[in-house]
Amino acid sequence: MTKDLWHAVARSRDLKRKPMRVMFEGKGIVLFRHADGLSALHDQCPHRLVELSKGRIVQDTIECPYHGWRFDPEGVCIDIPGCVTTLPRCRVPRYSVLEQDGGIFLSMGKPPAAPKVHPMAGQDIVSRVVKSATRSTLVDAAENILDATHTHFTHKGLLRGLSKSRNRVNVQITTGVDWVEAVYTGEEKQHGLISTLLDGSSTKGVGRYRRSGIAELEYWGPKGMVLATTFHLRQTDDETVEGIGWLTGPRHGGIGHLKALAFKPMFRIALEQDRRVLRSAFDNGRGATRMIGPLDILRRQIEMIEAGIPLPEETRHYEMAL
Ligand code: FES
Ligand SMILES: [Fe+2]
Repeated sequence: MTKDLWHAVARSRDLKRKPMRVMFEGKGIVLFRHADGLSALHDQCPHRLVELSKGRIVQDTIECPYHGWRFDPEGVCIDIPGCVTTLPRCRVPRYSVLEQDGGIFLSMGKPPAAPKVHPMAGQDIVSRVVKSATRSTLVDAAENILDATHTHFTHKGLLRGLSKSRNRVNVQITTGVDWVEAVYTGEEKQHGLISTLLDGSSTKGVGRYRRSGIAELEYWGPKGMVLATTFHLRQTDDETVEGIGWLTGPRHGGIGHLKALAFKPMFRIALEQDRRVLRSAFDNGRGATRMIGPLDILRRQIEMIEAGIPLPEETRHYEMAL
């Protein structure tokens, strides 16, 4: 992962008074709230290496559950109960953390700017934050989000597949050093419930993958963008991918408030359908080689981005029927 990027690791509303452990970049990190905001510390007491997240928050410090050492929001040890001499100097590593748009973001570095969660900043929008975990790999999960060709089957009726007829669409794939974008045009209507809710005629669809672990979808209508989804994915152990996602639309002409109410459960169903196929692919596919089919237009780029291999800056055109 890139050091100077923000990555969403939790929803704001899931972090209350108790500390929370999240996995990020292969490390356990404890998040907790205090009077001055939010802290992210390495989730390991320097004394006997117990998880600090199993402890509690006492007067804006986090208290280890084993011997009660307490650490301030900067990670400095400020109390060892029973110690009547000078405290040894010790501190727990601290990470950059930020809260925005209903999400909590971490970084291993010091990113120069705030994260861009959705492309509709400054507009009157409706936004919902969801969280999900799947047995899968980061590349498989990212590809799944951006793959239009599974929707007719995995999400039959929900996204596409209500009608047997397909439209021939043009796909323009543009790559930058660490991102890839697919723009779909020519599919007048997606035949599914969710698309009906979005009022039909779509002018274009966009799928984008950015380093690292960020998958974005956009649906455009005649009057502009009607829905954007952003997923921040991360591999939390050998077989789990976790994601924090945003569904965002303009309040008028997009998903709006009432539509968002109807939309979120459908989105949940779609997520569950994806989790099912991803689990099957993972469990059944251990150690085996996958075939890259003629419509898998983003797979290689996603793999390269995750492997840290720079992509050539170029644009290509494809055709397929959706
Ligand atoms: S292990 Fe944390 S105080 Fe001893
Ligand atoms: Fe899907």
